[in-house]
Amino acid sequence: MFLRNPFHGAFGLDIGDLSLKLAKLKKKPGYFGRPDSYTVTTLRAISLPPGIIVNGEIQQPELARKKLLLLLGKEGGKFEEIKTPWVVADLPEPKTFLKLIEVPSEDGELSSDDVLYQASKHLPFDLDEAYLDWQIINYDSKSNVAHILIGAVPKIISDSYTYFLESAGLSPITLEIEALTLARALITAGKEYHNEARAILDLGATRSCLIIYDHNTLQFSMNINFSGELINTALVQELKMEYADAEQLKIKQGLTPAKNSPRYLTIMTRLTNKLAEDVRRAIDFYNDRFPNPNPVTHITMAGGVANLNNLDNFLSRKLKISTHPGNAWKNLLPGKIIAREKQARGLVAASVLGLALRALQKP
Ligand SMILES: Nc1ncnc2c1ncn2[C@@H]1O[C@H](COP(=O)(O)OP(=O)(O)OP(=O)(O)O)[C@@H](O)[C@H]1O
Ligand SMILES: [Mg+2]
Repeated sequence: MFLRNPFHGAFGLDIGDLSLKLAKLKKKPGYFGRPDSYTVTTLRAISLPPGIIVNGEIQQPELARKKLLLLLGKEGGKFEEIKTPWVVADLPEPKTFLKLIEVPSEDGELSSDDVLYQASKHLPFDLDEAYLDWQIINYDSKSNVAHILIGAVPKIISDSYTYFLESAGLSPITLEIEALTLARALITAGKEYHNEARAILDLGATRSCLIIYDHNTLQFSMNINFSGELINTALVQELKMEYADAEQLKIKQGLTPAKNSPRYLTIMTRLTNKLAEDVRRAIDFYNDRFPNPNPVTHITMAGGVANLNNLDNFLSRKLKISTHPGNAWKNLLPGKIIAREKQARGLVAASVLGLALRALQKP
């Protein structure tokens, strides 16, 4: 029996195409049956130049390793050194698969062959070439089916992430699908939702996805073709401006008119209309294809682009579902770092905080 966490000091690492983010938490044990609580002790990020990781594939491993070492404070740079090797990192959302499936079972007993057989019908890739993980959510004795949450990733992707982490001296405790990570950070711990489903809309620098949470579990996640880079590229091309100016204009104006550029809002409205349509389509897919779907009553946004001025009002109106930026600190105790970061980084930190929680919760 372990008297203390064998993965002492474990931290979370969020690997994106354009950034690496690191978070470390400290646990305060909950006495008298209360749940444990957590404070943030480290939160840092480093940006990656385009081309090192592309669409979740590590294309320049040596450059990626150098950036990771800087983030860990190991080869100079401004950060204090992280000494522990234990890490929980995420797998790139566009390469992973997550879905709640039904597996028939007469008596609630399940063999892994039963699960693999059903899973193979849903997976977008070959079972032999993927790592599959699954978890029994519940068993319905009336209809004799078990609900199983399956997560899968191509071996080639997962192995390259493990190798990348090991090349910087780290030991991954686990690699996690980002949808699980985000739900851990953004769904209120311990709260039950009755007759309503919630969605998480993660809007990142290079990719976005919609995650549905219903019947107190994740149901599925879907990629959405929208991102901060997609906006910047449209502004650069159509308004003939420099990339840095496009980034600045977007952050300043969001979905409000820009004085010196009458076309700005037209472009932004076109892109966000398309975003609203894609979100609508993903929710319709959930309603049509899943058993007993509850209506989605709330959308929680995460990722840097969730800060886009007025996007919450725009989506709430278009979708007729209340849509708000999430609070990535909601399952954490207040502390110095949260006070410092509260305004600026709550949303971009959601994934890495979910990973850091995982690093301490289930060693
Ligand atoms: N106030 C703001 N308004 C609009 N966009 C913003 C704002 N602040 C940051 N962004 C955008 O958010 C993006 C960065 O978000 P985030 O850090 O979540 O991405 P990432 O995790 O690095 O990327 P990914 O998840 O796609 O790998 C950038 O495109 C940036 O321009
Ligand atoms: Mg991200």
